[in-house]
Amino acid sequence: MKTTWQKEAETELAGLKDKNLYRELRELENEDGIHARFKGKDVTLFCGNDYLGLSRHPRVKAAAIKAAEKWGVGAGAARLTSGSTPSHHKLEDKIAKHKGFERALVFSAGYLANVGALAAICDENTEVIFDKLCHASLIDALKLSGVNYRIFPHADLNKCEALLAKSEAKRKIILVESVFGMDGDVADLKKLADLKDKYGALLVVDDAHGTGVIDFAWERIDVLTGTLSKAVGSIGGFVCASNELIDLILNRARPFLFATALPPMICEAAYEAFCVMEEEPALHERLWKNIRSAYEGLKALGFEIEKPQSAVLPVILGDEKKTLDAFQKLLEQGVYVPAIRYPTVPKGKARLRITISALHAESDLNKLFAAMKNL
Ligand SMILES: Cc1ncc(COP(=O)(O)O)c(C=O)c1O
Repeated sequence: MKTTWQKEAETELAGLKDKNLYRELRELENEDGIHARFKGKDVTLFCGNDYLGLSRHPRVKAAAIKAAEKWGVGAGAARLTSGSTPSHHKLEDKIAKHKGFERALVFSAGYLANVGALAAICDENTEVIFDKLCHASLIDALKLSGVNYRIFPHADLNKCEALLAKSEAKRKIILVESVFGMDGDVADLKKLADLKDKYGALLVVDDAHGTGVIDFAWERIDVLTGTLSKAVGSIGGFVCASNELIDLILNRARPFLFATALPPMICEAAYEAFCVMEEEPALHERLWKNIRSAYEGLKALGFEIEKPQSAVLPVILGDEKKTLDAFQKLLEQGVYVPAIRYPTVPKGKARLRITISALHAESDLNKLFAAMKNL
């Protein structure tokens, strides 16, 4: 007999199905980062965030294997409990240097880096003014910390300024993403930096989808967060800032204090991935060549898509059911493009989110075009 909890869960799930918002796991045997087997069928993937294919890069894999042999697989405890390792410090120095900040601190996930860093620097005298399309981890950080916040419509910097001008808070924070993960557009960091100077605010930017894809100028940014799980190819997150702010985050961020550290083998893999990014610019060139080809191919088919500013190319269909049907139709043709729906994007803004990798070959893009043509 089912318990009341089970029955109520069933009702909730039926409601999600009715609204085309039900989600399920699909088991893919990912062969090389681009090609996979799904239910016995070959599929080409346009769904990941491993934009440079570094999770499969021989140097990155070798670094992880070597470190696992030497240090084992798990970290065992939080770094403030069991001690830090040379691999953590080496990676943090690398990230700080790569991004041009005084210091960096790594977390066990990008989500945790956002939650930890924001909550650590906010207090009751702080007001956070943020772009409506900021990632769930940033919004959760604000909710969990209980800080005051106000939202401006996506990329509307006039409204952002109006909120800054109206705010009576002693400490103001502007919060945006460098590349908005579901729309693929880029924040106007120069104008945002002008605003933060004008209103004495702190500018916090999440570079989750920018790292490895776009080389932004970070000089005027106060706090930069990011993830090691997208273009860096492994798992984990980071925060870059001044010595003082990082020290405060290290002392206050609950996901740093109370979660087990990133394993040293992951630190070594991520360190190597940053080295590859710096030493093998051809990967970055290949990614951008693929992004341009994908855009031109889709445009030629008549899809209304914006000129890409990143590796994320959304085709906004609006309706959830229509988007799910499109996903299914593409899958039947061996192309995996996720249907992104509420709450990941606003209601009625469902989309096919095509992501491009440096590993895609011309034949992969042609397969995408052929399948999209049949939609
Ligand atoms: C903009 C943004 N920030 C943060 C994160 C969280 O990163 P992670 O997956 O490493 O936890 C994501 C991941 O989806 C993201 O898209």
